[in-house]
Amino acid sequence: MPLLEIKNLVTAFQTPAGRVPAVDGVSLSIERGKTLGLVGESGCGKSVTALSILGLVAAPGVVEQGEILLSTASGTQNLLTLPERQLRSVRGGRIGMIFQEPMTSLNPIFTIGNQIAEAVSLHQNISRSAARARALQMLRLVRMADPEQRLDEYPHQLSGGMRQRVMIAIALACDPDLVIADEPTTALDVTIQAQILALLADLRQRLGTAILLITHDLGVVAETCDEVAVMYAGKIVERASAAELFARPLHPYTIGLLAARPTPGVRHAGPLRTIPGMVPAPQEFLSGCRFHPRCAYARSTDCVTDLPQLREISSGHFVRCHHAGALDAGALDVGALDQMQSAPPVALHAQTQAEQKGGSR
Ligand SMILES: Nc1ncnc2c1ncn2[C@@H]1O[C@H](COP(=O)(O)OP(=O)(O)OP(=O)(O)O)[C@@H](O)[C@H]1O
Ligand code: SF4
Ligand SMILES: [Mg+2]
Repeated sequence: MPLLEIKNLVTAFQTPAGRVPAVDGVSLSIERGKTLGLVGESGCGKSVTALSILGLVAAPGVVEQGEILLSTASGTQNLLTLPERQLRSVRGGRIGMIFQEPMTSLNPIFTIGNQIAEAVSLHQNISRSAARARALQMLRLVRMADPEQRLDEYPHQLSGGMRQRVMIAIALACDPDLVIADEPTTALDVTIQAQILALLADLRQRLGTAILLITHDLGVVAETCDEVAVMYAGKIVERASAAELFARPLHPYTIGLLAARPTPGVRHAGPLRTIPGMVPAPQEFLSGCRFHPRCAYARSTDCVTDLPQLREISSGHFVRCHHAGALDAGALDVGALDQMQSAPPVALHAQTQAEQKGGSR
């Protein structure tokens, strides 16, 4: 039984321009003590997925469908049907949260110590002095320099990295089973980013907390995650263990993301590769595979007409592509991205012409 299982989650926004299905049938699971990386470009639905888990999607957003099952000592709870009062105790209690910009989550008029103590008191019936002692313990746990002094300081007195440590301290203060970290290091410079990721990995190991790590950075995933789910246009397009995904990416979008990341230790002479085009806005989803306008492998037949299902290609490796497994394995390397870059947006037409001439891939 996984710690958290998301089944067929659909979250949409009702806007004047119509329904915007930001998360469109997402299924995921996170095992106890493991880290799942959720990756994808901006706008693909990662944060809306996280907010849906926590019951924090704001109007005009609505979770329309699905189940979010949290395993507990007394059985399984569906967070989508839990009364708000119970959900509040899950939030910050059993599930901790770390967001991208700590300054927007921390209250500028309360001291760090007060804010950590408040997080503890909300979920545990303890005295003020015990909560303050817990706050100090948490600051030590996240290896804050001069923790006694920091306890009585305000958020603006701390650096970005220190504030993110405070957010981690708050997220972990009630010994959660799961921490959801949405782009926790994006706002930090590279050195501090590495320190915060190392801290999260270390805490995960020591405390056994599972982590849902949301990022657009595959390098971060490679360093920290056990499992990876790649999201594109509201759907999971590939899911596998991190080792398998990095060794054998099968979805053309994942291949593109991998090829677009800088290689550590290598000086790049020219600009980095990019995947041509952009993630379509939910109101602009096309029929067929949502990636087809950007995919060098797109065929003018099924890729354009039929939405691919997530299929298990090999044990534990799921791919949403009509042709996964049948694509030319030799071409599935960095060269595939070069092909994408020179091909779209005419790939489909070139392909159509090749197919018309009897060519096949
Ligand atoms: N309040 C809203 N009203 C309408 N659409 C929204 C709203 N909030 C989010 N969306 C849409 O939902 C989609 C997914 O947004 P989401 O914030 O989950 O993306 P993301 O993957 O987290 O991107 P990023 O990497 O930039 O954080 C986007 O296309 C966005 O336009
Ligand atoms: S289904 Fe077709 S368009 Fe979509 S990723 Fe696979 S080959 Fe590309
Ligand atoms: Mg986001």
